Amino acid sequence: MNLTLKVWRQESPKAKGKFQEIKAENISEHCSFLEMLDVVNEKLEAQGKSPIAFDHDCREGICGMCSLMINGYAHGPEQGTTTCQLHMRHFKDGDTIVIEPWRAKAFPVIKDLCVDRSSFDRIIQAGGYVSVSTGSAPDANAILVAKDNADKSFNAAACIGCGACVAQCKNASAHLFVSAKITHLNLLPQGQAEAKSRTLNMIAQMDKEGFGACTNTGDCEAVCPKEIKMNHIHFMNRSFIKAMFTKDK
Ligand code: SF4
Ligand code: FES
Repeated sequence: MNLTLKVWRQESPKAKGKFQEIKAENISEHCSFLEMLDVVNEKLEAQGKSPIAFDHDCREGICGMCSLMINGYAHGPEQGTTTCQLHMRHFKDGDTIVIEPWRAKAFPVIKDLCVDRSSFDRIIQAGGYVSVSTGSAPDANAILVAKDNADKSFNAAACIGCGACVAQCKNASAHLFVSAKITHLNLLPQGQAEAKSRTLNMIAQMDKEGFGACTNTGDCEAVCPKEIKMNHIHFMNRSFIKAMFTKDK
C-alpha cells in the first residue's frame, strides 16, 4: 500500500515544529505501524535526510514507550491497542495519516514524536512503590486478598505508564495513570501501611508537574491500551479525602 504521512517534525525542545508531508510507499499490510515508520526512515536515511524520531522499546505492548497520536487518537483508532501493536491492515491504500507527539505541558517535546515523560517517573518516586518487607513469593501466598480487591488491583496493575490518557484528555489530566497506581498498591495488604502518604504525595506531585484536573469526560478510558477503568479515579478521590481527614498514628 502507498500512504501519505503528515508527520510533526521538531528539531529540538525549543524549536518551532511543523507538519511535514512524507510518502510511505510499498508498505505491507502485515507491517506494524512502527515497522512502517522504520521503512520510511530507512528511505529518508538513504536520501541523506534526518529520520523521524519516535519512541519504542518492547514492541509487544508491555513497556509503555511507544506514544503516537495517529489521526487524532492516542495509539491510533483500534481499542485496547498500543501503537506498536497496531497493524497497517487497519488503514487503506491511498490514506493520509496524521502523526503527532503526545501533546501536554507536562510532556514537553524532545524531538519530532518523542516527548519527555519523566514527570510520570517523579510521580512514581513520590509514592508508587511498597517499601515494607514483603518476604518471598510463598509469604505473599500466605496473605489472603479479597477476590474483589484482587481483581481491581490487578486491572490497575496493567497500566504500562504510556501517557495516552494524558495525551487524549482535553485537560491533560493524569488522573487515570495516578489512580491506577494508587488503586493497585492501596488495595493490597502489603500496600496499606503507606496508603495515606502514597495518596497525598503522588497527588501533590501530579499537581506540581502541571497536569490538568479531571472533568470526568472519559477520553482517558476510551484510549487506554490496557483498558484501565475510570472507577480507579473514584477510588483515588475517596482515598484522598480519607487521607486528608485521618490523623497520623
Ligand atoms: S492508564 Fe492507560 S493510557 Fe494511562 S498511562 Fe496507564 S496504560 Fe497508559
Ligand atoms: S513499544 Fe513497548 S508498549 Fe509499545
